[in-house]
Amino acid sequence: MSVSIIAIESSCDETSAAVCVDGKIRSNIIANQTVHEKYGGVVPELASRAHMQHIIPVLEAALKEAAFELKDCDAIAFTRSPGLIGSLLVGGHFAKSLALSLNKPLIAVHHMQAHVLANLIDDPKPSFPFLCLTVSGGHTQIVLCESPVKMKVIGETIDDAAGEAFDKSAKLLGLPYPGGPLIDKYAQTGNPDRFKFPEPRIQDLNFSFSGLKTSILYFLQNAGKSNLYKEEFSATEEEKRQFIQNNLPDICASIQQRIVTILLNKLKVASLETGITDICLAGGVSANSGLRKAFREMAEKYHWNSFIPAFQYCTDNAGMIAITGYYKYLAGEFSDLSTGSSARAEW
Ligand code: KG4
Ligand code: ZN
Repeated sequence: MSVSIIAIESSCDETSAAVCVDGKIRSNIIANQTVHEKYGGVVPELASRAHMQHIIPVLEAALKEAAFELKDCDAIAFTRSPGLIGSLLVGGHFAKSLALSLNKPLIAVHHMQAHVLANLIDDPKPSFPFLCLTVSGGHTQIVLCESPVKMKVIGETIDDAAGEAFDKSAKLLGLPYPGGPLIDKYAQTGNPDRFKFPEPRIQDLNFSFSGLKTSILYFLQNAGKSNLYKEEFSATEEEKRQFIQNNLPDICASIQQRIVTILLNKLKVASLETGITDICLAGGVSANSGLRKAFREMAEKYHWNSFIPAFQYCTDNAGMIAITGYYKYLAGEFSDLSTGSSARAEW
């Protein structure tokens, strides 16, 4: 039996469409929205409008690249949750209209499940059960994956996500949004041991990043002399600016190293506790070169089989929605047209 899925992703500020035939991604087209740059973050209403403009051309491009006709699909998959509600609604209604007009079944996909299953797109693939550290702008989770349709969150952030930690740190340094990739860039030439930021003590397999952000704030307000809270911050705005300018690579490398150790120390405990050694990364932050390198080194040390999706499947994309749709199709997990979109993350 051959199974073809058309997928739509629109949870945040990327409009994407993909075609998947028998578990192989034939096309994965992503339109980024540049309209948010000048606001320093995603503006939900502008994101919804941009999705409306992009969604038809993006689907057409995906069909063309895959040399695939709409009528030949077996199901339409779309991101149901979590995300920005206006953005989700545009993709959701578009997917439902397609399903209705083509008389094909609809498959609602959880965005975080799809990030995990991006690891099943290319070979080699992890064996079940595997663990996945999903790190994005909105989420930070350790997921125990028993099958493509059975997974459990065994650890997650209690405040900021890892991507937010990167972006908020970058903002404190005066870097534009999204600052994660810029921290990565400057960190390449910096000394990660130059400045020390604290590692939070959080119970179980959960994470916290808000303390790190505060520590960086105090560190900058004291122009690097201390990252402890002091009633009177010693540095003037000009001293702060000069300090950042003179030390940017070392500051970025030190922040990046701390975020990476917070993530990987918990992942190591998760592997030891579960005995699982097939371990994956997923989400936009898995593009971070420091995280990738440290993850590979940890995998070698602890004899893990390690997996990281290709870059185009790490950030938000419809390819991961399509592969999830494919496995849900095989499991018979369909949704009806009354399925609503949801901003919230419950599985
Ligand atoms: O998965 P994603 O594309 O969107 C969400 O679902 O949130 O992740 C976006 C996040 C942003 O916070 C961005 O700064 C971060 O991933 N990011 C990075 C890098 N590339 C993207 N963070 C650090 N280093 C990078 N190279
Ligand atoms: Zn995402």
